Amino acid sequence: MRYLGLLETYKEYLPVTDQTPLLSLHEGNTPLVRAENLSKELDLDLYFKYEGLNPTGSFKDRGMVMAVAKAIEEGSDTIMCASTGNTSAAAAAYAARAGLNCIVLIPNNNIALGKLAQAIIYGAKVIAIEGNFDRALEIVREITAKHPITLVNSVNPYRIEGQKTAAFEVCDQLGKAPDYLAIPVGNAGNISAYWKGFKEFYAQGKISSLPKMVGFEAEGAMAIVKGEPIADPETIATAIRIGNPASWKTAVAAAEESEGQINYVTDEEILHAYKTIAAREGIFAEPASAASIAGVMKLKREGVFRGGETVVCVLTGHGLKDPNIAIKSVNAEPLVVEDTEAAVMEAIRKLQGE
Ligand code: F0G
Repeated sequence: MRYLGLLETYKEYLPVTDQTPLLSLHEGNTPLVRAENLSKELDLDLYFKYEGLNPTGSFKDRGMVMAVAKAIEEGSDTIMCASTGNTSAAAAAYAARAGLNCIVLIPNNNIALGKLAQAIIYGAKVIAIEGNFDRALEIVREITAKHPITLVNSVNPYRIEGQKTAAFEVCDQLGKAPDYLAIPVGNAGNISAYWKGFKEFYAQGKISSLPKMVGFEAEGAMAIVKGEPIADPETIATAIRIGNPASWKTAVAAAEESEGQINYVTDEEILHAYKTIAAREGIFAEPASAASIAGVMKLKREGVFRGGETVVCVLTGHGLKDPNIAIKSVNAEPLVVEDTEAAVMEAIRKLQGE
């Protein structure tokens, strides 16, 4: 059967009414890819929920389709968000599709090039502020409270509703709930959404157990781990460069209720995981996404797993979002040679000798 997108597929589980337009860019329905090599190495049954394969290249499309459909239903003609990049790309795309205006506020010089390109080409009004994401979100909240503009950050509950569908898919794809769900934590909306989704499926008797939710902040932005907001968050994973997560409380509740944890990973651990999944599994995810697998590697070292557990890592965004990091992190440019067979053969020998 032709896949028609999240709102059509999961309407019984979503706040979809007769008045809700069934907007779609065919978001969702992303693959659950088994990590064949790393499963062996880590002695786990390890999977990647490859959210980078959504229409704008991140999980944000799941929440955005719901939020924009409800904005249309409510008669809004303009949406607005603060973003480290992916939310703005998704907002801009769905606004374009639905014929709404879109305004995005981003931290100047701290969003990946691909994400900026998306917001611009989809036709959003892009404003870069000198402050960081947390400040941008404060400003967006102030403006949308005073003007007839719909806020589409994850503090909009429709965003969480849409995003919870990823938990449904994981369970349907595995035929059960995983033992662990590992996920990067930035503004903390997504971990809250997954936990809501798992609990709903459990309450409906669709799964007979619940996963332990393990969320990972970047060390330089680990507000929840520290227990206090961070004024100047810093990490190579710009998507999760957030010092005061809006969904802090629900993220902590997800970790506590599920007997999981919110932990942190360093930039080095993130980059190592980022390169490892590309080189060993053929999967290219952006650095923030790799926080989930970096976290699983950390828990493995800490002896958290007995062996054989089913672990799903959410890979939240596509690697192509941030090509600069990829090239910088392996410190490699292509070898440029003369256009002859001999020169190319010599180059091959040289590269193989490395
Ligand atoms: N991974 C990626 C690729 C993200 O873009 C984000 C958040 C997260 C993880 C964290 O998810 O905020 O729900 O805990 N990006 C937001 C944005 C903040 O503006 O695109 P979260």
